[in-house]
Amino acid sequence: MATEKELIEKAVAMLDQSYSPYSHFPVGAALECDDGAVYTGCNIENASYGLTICAERTAAFKAVSEGHRRFRRIVIAGRCEDYCWPCGACRQVLNEFGGGELEVICLNGNGEAARTTLRELLPHPVDAVWLGT
Ligand code: THU
Repeated sequence: MATEKELIEKAVAMLDQSYSPYSHFPVGAALECDDGAVYTGCNIENASYGLTICAERTAAFKAVSEGHRRFRRIVIAGRCEDYCWPCGACRQVLNEFGGGELEVICLNGNGEAARTTLRELLPHPVDAVWLGT
């Protein structure tokens, strides 16, 4: 299992992979699955702005496409003043595979960390229970 420091280093390293020529707002993510596998991601923008994908969803889709469906922890890195909180769409996607227990560690540009859970960030997710399926 990766240490938190290792996950943080991986998320920060992904800032250099970010393709963000429109927003100039790089984001990096490192996602740990329940078996210890780690997938990284960065935001990837597009000239058709709505096609942009966030760092968290890049990491999540990489993990799921490689057969990992349970997430344990995610670190999200930005170079911003505030902590780099996940957007609403990413919270909903992370809930699908991490649930409320998912540990979320958000970094600011000074490398300081805010630690929370997905339940805190998304108290009323759309999930199988809500759907009644
Ligand atoms: N972005 C992420 O990658 N993750 C977030 O949680 C917030 C937003 C990206 C999308 C876009 O490329 C840029 O940050 C500005 O919104």
